[in-house]
Amino acid sequence: MIGEYNPYLEYRGGELYLEEVSLKSLAEEFGTPLYVYSASYVRDRLRAYREAFPDALVCYAVKANYNPHIIALAKEEGAGADIVSGGELYVSLLAGVEPSKIVYAGVGKTLKELEYAVDLEILLFNVESPMELEVLDQVAQKMGKKARVAIRVNPDVDPKTHPYISTGMKKSKFGVDIKTARKEYEQARRLKNLCVVGIHCHIGSQILDVSPYVEASQKVVELYWELLKAGFDIEYLDLGGGLGIKYKPDQSNPEPADLAEAILPVVKDTRAKLILEPGRSVVGNAGVLLTQVQFLKDKGHKHFVIVDAGMNDLVRPAMYSAYHHIVPVEKKDRPYVKTDVVGPICETGDFLALDREIPAVERGEYLAVLSAGAYGFAMSSHYNLRPRACEVLVEGSSYRVIREREDYSHLVGELLPKKP
Ligand SMILES: Cc1ncc(COP(=O)(O)O)c(C=O)c1O
Repeated sequence: MIGEYNPYLEYRGGELYLEEVSLKSLAEEFGTPLYVYSASYVRDRLRAYREAFPDALVCYAVKANYNPHIIALAKEEGAGADIVSGGELYVSLLAGVEPSKIVYAGVGKTLKELEYAVDLEILLFNVESPMELEVLDQVAQKMGKKARVAIRVNPDVDPKTHPYISTGMKKSKFGVDIKTARKEYEQARRLKNLCVVGIHCHIGSQILDVSPYVEASQKVVELYWELLKAGFDIEYLDLGGGLGIKYKPDQSNPEPADLAEAILPVVKDTRAKLILEPGRSVVGNAGVLLTQVQFLKDKGHKHFVIVDAGMNDLVRPAMYSAYHHIVPVEKKDRPYVKTDVVGPICETGDFLALDREIPAVERGEYLAVLSAGAYGFAMSSHYNLRPRACEVLVEGSSYRVIREREDYSHLVGELLPKKP
């Protein structure tokens, strides 16, 4: 069953392994909380995208996991980067991604961020408002450059996912209304320092049914033909990311091949190059978060397993009521207990699981929180002044630290008064 999350994850002799590496030995060597990722899994996922979409450019969505070693892996597998900030641009470059494979979305790009990206001549600005078009044009003019743009259109399609990660609905802050997008395209065409080359659309994240993609791509393709007729040269259709992954044991998820089967027939007659921006479906199930049981607490009506990973390490359960499957790193015959698995943070919302049947664990044992490779470390914080976790990448029987564990100096270093 556990192999359905990640084929490189399995119990051997009662101990959980990721690839050829014992997770208990990693927890003992590097301490907890500890993020561990499988490089082979990341490679396999990108290969699955490549095979399903041989003519597309896959831009890995850096926001899902911005560790430069993970971005570098994606680059090695031929991916570009989908970014949403100057920071993500900086780290993508550090990881070796060429600007000609970088696409940049985001509703609130600052002047400084626009200048940075215009200067690098990135592949595509996915522009989200008429005002952003104006400002981008001014920036490009000042720098003596032309910026390539796609307009992010909002197809008003319900991706049937959590409302906080539904991004293509009419009421959302993202993009412009697809029905009236022609207006923004005409505006962009009048701006001398922009080159209008694409249509962008991203409807949400953790999408488990490909039909919303079909609906959204049909609307995008309609707009494509309308724009072509009006004399635009649309070279790129960027259909975003969002493919869902398995979080719950009974959940099945679409594969890149299913997405291809659904949307390639819709876009096949266009002459545009397809861009995809997957994040979660590349790294989500590559990673586990290892945590150690600190205390057990029985309040009669309620049982708690208190662990050393909190919402500052993995905020998804608190933020989206997200389910993460949790298993002990050592498999033994033992009874199950119904419990909350909670962290040390001073918030009632600080939990990893609520009312969950898990094997009765003991103080000091390690637990693995599955499906933690995406929006895990990337959304972590210093809340309650907790240093952030260490990250380890395994490949076959080798492993390496790709981010050192923080210590207390990381919490206050930049705040200390400067010496005269
Ligand atoms: C514009 C854009 N592209 C790509 C992604 C990646 O989505 P996912 O990680 O679900 O594949 C996101 C995530 O929200 C996004 O906002």
